[in-house]
Amino acid sequence: MATSTVSTPLRADRVGTLPSSVVIASLSRALDLAEGEPMGHAIRACWLGMKIGDWVGLGPEERQDLFYALLLKDAGCSANAYSVTHWFAADDRSTKAQLKVADWGSQWRSVLFAIRQTAPAAPITRRMAQLVSLGSRGPSLANELVQVRCTRGAELVRQLGWAEPSAEAVFSLDEHWNGSGRPRGLKGEEIPVLSRIALLAQTAEIFWRHGGRRSVEAVLRRRRGSWFDPQLVDAVLTHARSDKLWDRFGAISHPEQVAHLDPRPRKIPSATLGEMIQIGQVFAAVVDAKSPWTTSHSTRTALLSRRMADVMGLDEDEADHIGLAALLHDLGKLAVSNSILDKAGPLDPGEMMEMQSHTDITYQILAPLWPLGDVAEMAASHHERLDGSGYHRHLRGPDLTFGAQIVAVADVFEAITADRPYRRGMENDDAIRWLKKEEGRTLAAEPISALFEMVESARGRPEGFTLT
Ligand SMILES: [Fe+2]
Ligand SMILES: [Fe+2]
Repeated sequence: MATSTVSTPLRADRVGTLPSSVVIASLSRALDLAEGEPMGHAIRACWLGMKIGDWVGLGPEERQDLFYALLLKDAGCSANAYSVTHWFAADDRSTKAQLKVADWGSQWRSVLFAIRQTAPAAPITRRMAQLVSLGSRGPSLANELVQVRCTRGAELVRQLGWAEPSAEAVFSLDEHWNGSGRPRGLKGEEIPVLSRIALLAQTAEIFWRHGGRRSVEAVLRRRRGSWFDPQLVDAVLTHARSDKLWDRFGAISHPEQVAHLDPRPRKIPSATLGEMIQIGQVFAAVVDAKSPWTTSHSTRTALLSRRMADVMGLDEDEADHIGLAALLHDLGKLAVSNSILDKAGPLDPGEMMEMQSHTDITYQILAPLWPLGDVAEMAASHHERLDGSGYHRHLRGPDLTFGAQIVAVADVFEAITADRPYRRGMENDDAIRWLKKEEGRTLAAEPISALFEMVESARGRPEGFTLT
């Protein structure tokens, strides 16, 4: 996969563990994409935020909480993606990216933002109608969108097992020093210091990308005392006066470059996958929450794949790897706009290209976790087909791993049995008949037989074929 080669070697120790700092930093790049930022945004914000933590004298425990708050600040990103697309009638990713640049801290600025962002590509009458509908919800909608995102983000941080201050920091990321933020309108030191640092670091990262050091300094001065804690702004303006620091900042993009900043990383086994699967379940939930039409797609595809692997007699270890790959197979969909994911009709060629990019993006996100074996390869190959008609590398049968073929069948079965905006889901028997027609041509025979066996053996059971 030429476009996805990672040249920096990963530090996996000899007993087969991965540092949690590397795992979360790698996966944070999926959250960047859902927010309309490039991969590496959270990693750079983390690097800068940890520097700020040093400058203001945080202790080791607070530094660890800050580290994971910075990487997971956008964990709730997908929870409001559908609503943002629906209310703004626009690409959720560009609307979200604009929200981080625009100063919406006053009512008239919020109105200006709405006028610019609402249905930008639509004819004027449609734009006006959408604005009226958006206006009818007013500030309560803005609050709802932030509330849902930060509540979900904090929940996911807790599920990942990080300490409460990290979750609290994610919950209060959008609070502003002068009380104009959301969701609680906290003011000054009522806002957790980790949230104040994270907001400043993420804003600095974005403005640095748009206009370099001068642009960062300008936004910090402009929002000193409104968005940002004045003491933190002063710390950055004092310590970050040299171009050298910003040059180092600009060179940060890979998970390895921030891994050492966690004072006490957890050791996550890469040989036995229990803990990695728990992390995978959290990120699968992030992907599934992006669209109301796929609310359990990744989870169900993983359950199917895992059970198919068992039926096929694969050993526990191999089955776990396949299950993990299935949990994470659609990570790249976080980079696809909901205006495409939820479209109730055929995609045009540009939309199709964006949709089909998701497998390569999945690979890029997972590639740094190479001690997990071929998980990235299996996950990224789930739309490849035996006859070469799939994407994104157009692999053929002999090039496809067995695990990839299992995930591919599970993915299709889950997708065709689920409802979509443009069709009802098939019954299990119809879906098996459909798969049988593809057997040996596009999809492998063994996984289809395993699936058939699972459906058959559930016949007659009162609960039928379930995936719980
Ligand atoms: Fe997919
Ligand atoms: Fe999928």
